[in-house]
Amino acid sequence: RDSDVVLGLESSCDETAAALLRADGTILAEAVLSQLEDHTPYGGVVPEIAARAHLAHLPGLVRRVMAEAGIGPDGLAAVAATAGPGLIGGLIVGATLGKGMALAAGVPFLGINHLEGHALTPRLPGVFKAGVHAGGLEFPYLLMLLSGGHCQCVRVEGVGRHVRLGTTLDDAVGEAFDKSAKLLGLPWPGGPHLERLAASGDPARFALPRPLMGRPGCDFSFSGLKTAVANIVAKGLDERGRADVAAGFQAAVAATLADRAAHALAMAPDATALVVAGGVAANKGIRSALAAVAAKAGLPLVAPPIRLCTDNAVMIAWAGIERLRLGLTDELDQAPRPRWPL
Ligand code: KG4
Ligand code: ZN
Repeated sequence: RDSDVVLGLESSCDETAAALLRADGTILAEAVLSQLEDHTPYGGVVPEIAARAHLAHLPGLVRRVMAEAGIGPDGLAAVAATAGPGLIGGLIVGATLGKGMALAAGVPFLGINHLEGHALTPRLPGVFKAGVHAGGLEFPYLLMLLSGGHCQCVRVEGVGRHVRLGTTLDDAVGEAFDKSAKLLGLPWPGGPHLERLAASGDPARFALPRPLMGRPGCDFSFSGLKTAVANIVAKGLDERGRADVAAGFQAAVAATLADRAAHALAMAPDATALVVAGGVAANKGIRSALAAVAAKAGLPLVAPPIRLCTDNAVMIAWAGIERLRLGLTDELDQAPRPRWPL
């Protein structure tokens, strides 16, 4: 078949997404449906509701991107779907739809590790355009994956070749943002709200802990920071105080992440770039703290545009393209995996 178009499906958490990409990384069509409103009343993602929402919306999204790109099943070269890690109900919905489509179209299926999707996105032509490396972003690079469910520092050496240098000992960084935001009376998910509140606060008023700062390695820990926020909030805060706590919290997280990233770069001296991904990468204070670390090491900071930092299907299609190129396709009986470390 002369097509080089790969369909990507994402359904591992609370974003339902589909995308069509050419092998050269051209995005033909993409769609993401957030289930935020379905879960907000519960203050977090409810797995059963997520699975049912993927079931209700994913086929329609696939139809939409295919119509938009003017491509039918005959126009596909392969189908890639997230096969883990994530909530099993949603994974089954996406992977099964993907397998069914691959089977019907007679093309290979690729069961993608969601984390590898995040990890390879910065190689998508168009994301990395600094012109530092003429051929695009080269392996190895250092990835700080900062989201609500994942918080890790990974040396990305190649497709399917990743070395985790550090991870969180307790909460993921996005989780810490969301929990602290909740303590401050902000709506879920609290990360973006907390950033907005922090903008008017004084980061120096409250001395919040900077967990693991200065320690060897690049593990993370955020639960102590959240407890410190809880203790301050328990004493009672006015409006001004809430902003000051938010600013102090964000400054502590940014400083901790910068410290961890600097340690990780020392552990991976051949890295070509520092890459940041995941929803928390949207935070401007955190981006600029990491940019400073990268600059000090003489490396570019690569941060995909926000829509490609948060969960999406472009990253799944792209990881599929990278794997397909190496012949790393999967069987139709591949089981989705709720746990699947890189
Ligand atoms: O990658 P993502 O969309 O979903 C997964 O967790 O996989 O990340 C969502 C997380 C949430 O915890 C959210 O509060 C956080 O990213 N987040 C932010 C910001 N925008 C999103 N945290 C801090 N500052 C932000 N601007
Ligand atoms: Zn994700």
